[in-house]
Amino acid sequence: MLVLGIETSCDETAAAVVSDQAPHIRSNVVFSQLAEHRPYGGIVPEVAARAHLTHLDPVIERALEEAGVGFDDLDAVAATGGPGLIGGVIVGVTEAKAIALARGLPFVAINHLEGHALSARLVAPVEFPFLLLLVSGGHCQLQIVEGIGHYRRLGTTIDDAAGEAFDKGAKLLGLGYPGGPAIERAAASGQAARAPLPKPMVGREGCDFSFSGLKTALRVAVEKRGGILSAADQADLAASLQESIVASLADRAAQAIALFLERYPEGKTLVVAGGVAANSALRRRLTDLAARAGLDFVAPPLSLCTDNGAMIAWAGLERLKAGLVDALDFAPRPRWPLDPNAVPVRGAGAKA
Ligand code: KG4
Ligand code: ZN
Repeated sequence: MLVLGIETSCDETAAAVVSDQAPHIRSNVVFSQLAEHRPYGGIVPEVAARAHLTHLDPVIERALEEAGVGFDDLDAVAATGGPGLIGGVIVGVTEAKAIALARGLPFVAINHLEGHALSARLVAPVEFPFLLLLVSGGHCQLQIVEGIGHYRRLGTTIDDAAGEAFDKGAKLLGLGYPGGPAIERAAASGQAARAPLPKPMVGREGCDFSFSGLKTALRVAVEKRGGILSAADQADLAASLQESIVASLADRAAQAIALFLERYPEGKTLVVAGGVAANSALRRRLTDLAARAGLDFVAPPLSLCTDNGAMIAWAGLERLKAGLVDALDFAPRPRWPLDPNAVPVRGAGAKA
């Protein structure tokens, strides 16, 4: 079976072909719109939507070419149906529906977060249920993945996502965009202890996240240094910011592991996914945490952590095999919680 996957929910225009036979990833083409958004210091939704429109056709063509297949070889077309920047989601969904209609193929609408969640099963034999820490630019959640389409949310952010905390922190430190990789690079030559920052939520009950206080503390620390930072200050503050975010994520994950094992004593795996999972300090901390709890730890390779088409194609394949396809009247969704029964959290910028 071969599935084409299309991802256009943020600032990556991506398409991939995956197979149910190894090697699963036949192609995985990602066009990053970074250069188009960099002048604005962040993603501009309207710019993203227009760029997807321009780049999607050639990206799909290349994905098919690199896989050595044509539209007629496909068994289904999957596209991110949400959540995300709605202009981009509409571009991807419309394209996928058009291909499905023209070629008589099933269409599968994928929840972007499910794409991240199931990417672990693309690279390792991870069984349900597993515990997922999903950390990206738009989302910061702990979920028990009970099966395809079945999620139990243990925690979410009441304000910023972890990726946003890196991105906004990098902006305050004058390190540019995207912030995560820039912070990680600068942190390598810094010492967190020279610029201590609070570790949000550490020791608190539950598994929710909050990063806006950390951002404020960082702003105050920058102002205290006169607003202009030496390279050494930049490095120390970057190291400290990274340490605080990682400590907070690890503390919340430890809480979630306890809840996961209480509910599923047979549970075996901790999975991390999303762009922030590219961070090696976080990977190290989670590796330790999982080992201490007797869990396997699975982190997809970096190319599958940040947004890509392979994870969408793979989720499409898993859904197709389970008989879960969508009608062509599927409406793109700006919001689409994985666990519709989760208790809403209260907070300034609470995300579903
Ligand atoms: O999953 P993703 O590619 O897009 C979303 O769905 O949001 O995640 C992008 C986020 C950005 O906030 C970026 O700063 C962060 O992932 N990121 C990192 C690293 N690489 C990317 N954060 C920390 N350390 C990294 N090495
Ligand atoms: Zn993502």
